[in-house]
Amino acid sequence: MEVRHTFRGQMLLMCTVVCMLHIHTEVSAILFCEKSALTVRYVENCPTDSTSWENAAKKMNCESIEQRCSDKHHRFQYHCVINAWRNATLEVCALNRTIIGYCTEYSINGTVIQDNYGADCTKFNPPCPTSYNSAEAYKCRLN
Ligand SMILES: *[C@@H]1O[C@H](CO)[C@@H](O)[C@H](O)[C@H]1NC(C)=O
Ligand SMILES: *[C@@H]1O[C@H](CO)[C@@H](O)[C@H](O)[C@H]1NC(C)=O
Ligand SMILES: *[C@@H]1O[C@H](CO)[C@@H](O)[C@H](O)[C@H]1NC(C)=O
Repeated sequence: MEVRHTFRGQMLLMCTVVCMLHIHTEVSAILFCEKSALTVRYVENCPTDSTSWENAAKKMNCESIEQRCSDKHHRFQYHCVINAWRNATLEVCALNRTIIGYCTEYSINGTVIQDNYGADCTKFNPPCPTSYNSAEAYKCRLN
């Protein structure tokens, strides 16, 4: 009884450690990309429709930039988003993510695309989709 108890405890601990490691590597592998910081360009406005968005994306040509960040689900691609303070808009090549309800920001410090929790875009008029691909942030009016 005693032995089984300990064994189960060890298994549980091991599983917890493995799971945490797994989550940790997932997060650090997916989220940031230092290379993206080199591509930041401040702009007056972001393209507001898919055609001008695609043109801007073509010009920036993120696919041609060598990086080791992208994977099947997160591609290194054109973004036009606000900064963390919401006082500037910028173009950047970065890994795309699913944004849920908030506006999309690029964190210069974190070299990562993420939700700007200060800006609940579902309350905009017109509202942003509750869930969207950060690389299609034109669906979400920033200014
Ligand atoms: C945005 O706000 C931050 C923090 O207040 C400030 O340091 C930065 O200079 C501002 N950037 C612009 C473009 O106004
Ligand atoms: C990233 O973009 C690609 C294609 O542009 C898309 O297939 C993928 O689902 C996006 N990933 C996320 C997390 O939104
Ligand atoms: C980024 O890092 C600088 C220096 O460490 C810090 O002053 C600044 O507040 C950070 N910005 C954000 C948005 O966290």
